[in-house]
Amino acid sequence: MEPVIPDLRDVPRDEAYARLLEMQSLVLEGSTDVIAGMATTSALLHHAFGHLWTGFYRVVEPGRLLRVGPYQGSLGCQDIAFGRGVCGTSAAERRTVVVPDVHAFPGHIACDARSASEIVVPVTNVHGELIAVLDIDSPVRNAFGDADVAGLEQLVAWFARAA
Ligand code: SME
Repeated sequence: MEPVIPDLRDVPRDEAYARLLEMQSLVLEGSTDVIAGMATTSALLHHAFGHLWTGFYRVVEPGRLLRVGPYQGSLGCQDIAFGRGVCGTSAAERRTVVVPDVHAFPGHIACDARSASEIVVPVTNVHGELIAVLDIDSPVRNAFGDADVAGLEQLVAWFARAA
């Protein structure tokens, strides 16, 4: 049986991410399957923190197009062009983007009106190629800080080892 995902909302963020990293490597031990990695990482983050939307947009046309991949939460948009919205900006610039207030981000794509803040982290493979972005939406303003950037970048480092 798989382990139960703990509720980590009241745990200090760095400690919470350390626990999730441990669970991620335990559950994915021996796997090099990118889709399994995306599904598992989404489930861990979503249920540990109670986010609104947690998941991956995959690069389906390098430099041009992202398409929704494994996620948890309400329905996400299907396709996002590079350079558009928070996800497209992160993909085009290959950098983590933290948006404390989505309403103040020009070009933000609202898939769910309850979204208030967002973080998007680029995901690269072993060859250093961009394969996806990890997108997390919160109903709370200013939900993401430095500990989230560090923790999420460590979690997506799994993909640079997997494929
Ligand atoms: N808000 C994102 C779009 C994806 S969804 O919120 C699931 C953006 O601006 O890129």
